[in-house]
Amino acid sequence: MCGIIGIAGTQDAAPQLVEALRRLEYRGYDSAGIATLVEGRIERRRSPGKLTQLDRVLQQKPLGGRTGIGHTRWATHGAPTESNAHPHASRRVALVHNGIIENFRELRSALIAKGHHFESETDTEVAVHLVTDLLDQGLAPVEAAREAVRQLTGAYALAMIFAGHEGLVVGARKGSPLAVGYGDVEAYLGSDAFALAPFTHRVAYLDDGDVVVLHGPKVEIFDSAGQPVQRQIRMTTASAGLVDKAGYRHFMAKEIHEQPEVIAHTLAHYLDPSALVVQLREPEVIEVLRHASRLTISACGTAFYAGLIGKYWFERLARLAVEADVASELRYREPVYPAGGVALFISQSGETADTLAALRDAKASGQTTIAVVNVPESSIAREADIVLPTFAGPEIGVASTKAFTCQLSVLAALAIAAGRARGVIEPDREHALVASLLEIPRHIVEFMTQEETVEALGGDLAKARDVLYLGRGVNFPLAMEGALKLKEISYIHAEGYAAGEMKHGPIALIDENVPVIVLAPHDTWFEKTVSNMQETMARGGKVILISDVAGIAAAGEAAYANIPVPAVDPTFAPLLYAVPVQMLAYYMALAKGTDVDQPRNLAKSVTVE
Ligand code: G6P
Repeated sequence: MCGIIGIAGTQDAAPQLVEALRRLEYRGYDSAGIATLVEGRIERRRSPGKLTQLDRVLQQKPLGGRTGIGHTRWATHGAPTESNAHPHASRRVALVHNGIIENFRELRSALIAKGHHFESETDTEVAVHLVTDLLDQGLAPVEAAREAVRQLTGAYALAMIFAGHEGLVVGARKGSPLAVGYGDVEAYLGSDAFALAPFTHRVAYLDDGDVVVLHGPKVEIFDSAGQPVQRQIRMTTASAGLVDKAGYRHFMAKEIHEQPEVIAHTLAHYLDPSALVVQLREPEVIEVLRHASRLTISACGTAFYAGLIGKYWFERLARLAVEADVASELRYREPVYPAGGVALFISQSGETADTLAALRDAKASGQTTIAVVNVPESSIAREADIVLPTFAGPEIGVASTKAFTCQLSVLAALAIAAGRARGVIEPDREHALVASLLEIPRHIVEFMTQEETVEALGGDLAKARDVLYLGRGVNFPLAMEGALKLKEISYIHAEGYAAGEMKHGPIALIDENVPVIVLAPHDTWFEKTVSNMQETMARGGKVILISDVAGIAAAGEAAYANIPVPAVDPTFAPLLYAVPVQMLAYYMALAKGTDVDQPRNLAKSVTVE
């Protein structure tokens, strides 16, 4: 998703702007650009494609100037071309934008009627002409920006610079995130604290409706009523060092391998390993879950599949009625929220537009809201009643891996705590469950020794056009997550199904060209899943069985290939089985030669609906 940076600086802005944009790359983008003031004039450089292409443009035509803005664009209105890339500019103002301006058609018609000439297909350009029009009417830059923002509807963040106004950067936030960085002699705007980390750790997050004015190092913030306001300045923990690949070929590979460590780190926050109990540092959540009449779980993408696995856990371990839905549906389908209900939202970035909107809606409907998030300063974290952090660290690969298993870790701990609070789980059972959870990181490390098997299999299966994933119970949502992972990074069509649903449709697809990945720990339902495997194999299907030693032995010789994993408590199997599933997707994508870390069309943080 688009990333924004603005600098009211004292040194050459271009290298700083590009450095910050590089830190926003992880959000996903397909063109980039920067603009600065050179002797009072607006100059810009833009390029479709990745930042290396913008670097090339800057080498050929360097850009001076100390005041500037920059942008990575994830195309929504208009293709990722140079003319659609930001900054958009007139002779008077240059502007970058994240989000969507909903009333751009009406505004554009009115501005065209007034003689404005549009050069791009973007919704953003309307803001440029609107500000220019107001400047031409005699308004000063800050007033013109404020008046323009008043006329825009939608969800957006903006940053702009003005010809002839050295040191001035104006920003606005409505819906999309925007942070202000406080330096000693400079001030900054950025989509997140991570982008600003090379320059400063003193950061304030704007509220919706805020307009911010940077005059060199001086920062003024105005609320939606135009009143001067202070927003709390926090010291961020975002690291200034560029997150690097630590010797791995891709961030995704690094993040897959980090899972034993980050899961252990996350579990350490929620579990007491000596007493073998869940020990929440957010104790209010216990009372909330004890009395909950129902739990609603919502999220998008991979985080939603974590939520679906959580549904099985809360039902089984805490006998709590759970409803789970993707946020883009929940927010619009007029759900019936019960009195005394609790709503739990899961998000790596904490900025996903649909998840945030669903949270606001649930809150307005009287639900106590809990957020499981990886970015503690994010909008979702700030708006939820209770925040349960994951400790995955920055996740750069667009396809979520370690954030997912950390989300599962929190949900597992929370479900056990809810079970205790609701009198469903006795202390002995709690000890056993906590002990099983604590063993997961070690089992993942053990599984990693199978990496070469998965790599070879990935190369072999990469020719497939369609792939099916099957699982039962807690492994059904993981089957859907496996299919999502594969399609995201390899562009191979994949579907995740409940194993028992095979006969009701997908079996029609089976032939020798369709690999069927079966996720089946040797649990109570194993025999049933084996029957589904047999049905597949009888039709020539290539079954790849992911199971423990007992499961592989019980299934016999029939599978095309086996991926052995250590035996674990089947309740928490998804935490371990996620890893072979991610690894298989990774090696299939690698064999196909796709851009694993930044797959086409995808964004890391989806801040538009
Ligand atoms: C995008 C990302 C996914 C992620 C989803 C939800 O689609 O590409 O990896 O699962 O958004 O993001 P969130 O930050 O809310 O977890």
